[in-house]
Amino acid sequence: MTADIIDGKAFAAGLRERVGGAVAALKRDHGLAPGLAVVLVGEDPASQVYVRNKAKQTVEAGMQSFEFRLPAETDEATLLAKVHALNADPAVHGILVQLPLPDQIDADQVLAAIDPDKDVDGFHVVNVGRLATGSPGALVPCTPLGCLLLLRDRFGPGGLSGKNAVVVGRSNIVGKPMAQLLLQESCTVTVAHSRTQDLPAVCRAADILVAAVGRPQMVQADWIKPGATVIDVGINRIAKEDGGTRLVGDVDTQAAKAVAGAITPVPGGVGPMTIACLLRNTVTACCRQHGVPEPAM
Ligand code: GUN
Repeated sequence: MTADIIDGKAFAAGLRERVGGAVAALKRDHGLAPGLAVVLVGEDPASQVYVRNKAKQTVEAGMQSFEFRLPAETDEATLLAKVHALNADPAVHGILVQLPLPDQIDADQVLAAIDPDKDVDGFHVVNVGRLATGSPGALVPCTPLGCLLLLRDRFGPGGLSGKNAVVVGRSNIVGKPMAQLLLQESCTVTVAHSRTQDLPAVCRAADILVAAVGRPQMVQADWIKPGATVIDVGINRIAKEDGGTRLVGDVDTQAAKAVAGAITPVPGGVGPMTIACLLRNTVTACCRQHGVPEPAM
């Protein structure tokens, strides 16, 4: 048996098309142009690449992109003032402050200052609470939302109900919101982490295994239940023998393919879904702010 490869790159392209269609309809029917503001503090090279890609894809979807680059030595008060200005700007429907922030800035304070209804990252405690309680109006973090869309596509309507899902990793950005989303789909959810006893045995019980730990190729083939669906959130750069580098996930993909029923590759799996979901969240936020029905995307 060899696993189906879940083509996140293609799925994300389709999602961006649907988002673009929704944006065109908002313009045509309501005279609205969704706007996304991205704030980058400092010059972290990886963050610069993300921010550039976000801006490019925002414009390609027909939305307005507002980009703000602040120097690495920016103080917290200056960044908070920027966030408050964006909260008050009616052309801005979504606000994303790129993480990580420099040491002199308390990221929690900054995330708490973002208007929850413009918080397209879904990191504000109000959105965390809305997601946890199933309240309307939650904006959901983009990476776990992308994983969920891939899983829903594979399992079909109601198909996730009753499945055993194991999420490895308990971060606020991926592990915890992923667990909430799977619970909402009526999965039986286990959140495993670095202190979990007999992690391989816990993983082997999973019909759906989500690896989000940031450790290259940690999940081994014999941790996977035959036929399971494996979602690999890891993006780790490792050295190659020829001196170059390559990207690998948190799963030993090559070996896992012989056991799993389906698996997301790295790159080209979960990665491209994140920005596509950011665009989707921005359209959702725009519709809610204007009392317009949310399009299916
Ligand atoms: N840095 C890496 N990923 C993310 C993300 O999804 N959102 C923000 N704001 N910063 C990030």
